[in-house]
Amino acid sequence: QTEILKIDDIKSDYEYIKKAADIIRKNELVAIPTETVYGLGANGLSKEACKKIFEVKGRPQDNPLILHISEIEEIKNLILELPVDVKTLLENLWPGPLTVIFNKSDIVPSVVTAGGNTVAIRMPSHNIAREIIKKSGVPIAAPSANISGRPSPTTANDVYEDLKGKIPLIIDGGQSSIGIESTVLDVTEKPYTILRPGFYDKEDLEEYLNKVVYDNALISDNIIPKSPGQKYKHYAPKANMEVIIGDNNSIKEYIRNYSKDTNKKTAYILFEENKNILQKDDIFLSLGSKNKLNEMAHNLFRNLRLADKLKVDYIICEGIEEKGIGIGIMNRLKKSSSHNIRRV
Ligand code: TXA
Ligand code: MG
Repeated sequence: QTEILKIDDIKSDYEYIKKAADIIRKNELVAIPTETVYGLGANGLSKEACKKIFEVKGRPQDNPLILHISEIEEIKNLILELPVDVKTLLENLWPGPLTVIFNKSDIVPSVVTAGGNTVAIRMPSHNIAREIIKKSGVPIAAPSANISGRPSPTTANDVYEDLKGKIPLIIDGGQSSIGIESTVLDVTEKPYTILRPGFYDKEDLEEYLNKVVYDNALISDNIIPKSPGQKYKHYAPKANMEVIIGDNNSIKEYIRNYSKDTNKKTAYILFEENKNILQKDDIFLSLGSKNKLNEMAHNLFRNLRLADKLKVDYIICEGIEEKGIGIGIMNRLKKSSSHNIRRV
């Protein structure tokens, strides 16, 4: 049986924090809210606990986990060295949607790192997540709390859909504010390399670091990514999906022609600016305003899961230029659509 406990206020609901921490300490799994997406948490120092994550998610064994901490100091036991420029970066951007890859210390079990010598670490800004980590007294290993391949969960309900009956507890902390996963930065070699784009882009990190590059695999489709998670089919809704990019007029023109001809039950995931092209029976799922890409990130996975619930045959989703958070968003959309991207 999977219990869902909602925390509105950490102080008055502290019993639930304790309950979550107890389960972590018993080497069982708890789904926890973070500002990016919900995580499937386990004691990050226990091989036995982390193995359960892979079983429950159906996650490939060679895909390593992120360790979540509640204070910067906790990093010291987990890594070999903290370069000064990276320390400055962390002091500025942690807690938040940034994961950093370091050379690991001996106490990090190899199941966490998929056998490798490097470990991914993140300090989330979600208060509930940090409080559970603190109370557990161990780093919490947590991938996104979805069945592997599915869109990442941004609400407790999304987690329940995928993992009901498989884990004892889901902590409900509301809808994830950011909505896409953290930016992953490898600092074990120079130049420092972004392995997964997210809320922070290269320029954001270069405020604190001399030079940052994107992993070539993010730019070319023919190169094997350094981050194992980047190579798998991902974020995929059940229906086939296409992503269309263009100005408002060409988007409208395209949708008008498509909807005239189709008899497929279609979900239209569009910006507010373009919804007036749809008929009243059409299924419209909003990406918010085109001027507020944070809203697009916030609503993206949510809408893919909604389309599944509505049992549509096809999904048309608007895409955007690959700038800023748009790089992270398009990275997810390319995968959800199996690279079915069309400029209109
Ligand atoms: O926002 C997030 O990062 C969320 C929340 C729950 O914190 N977590 C998350 O975890 O997205 P997951 O497991 O779904 O994605 C972790 C990514 C994967 O692409 C994985 O391959 C990469 O980080 N990764 C983890 N450890 C790594 C390592 N040592 N070297 C290279 N890539 C690593
Ligand atoms: Mg994931």
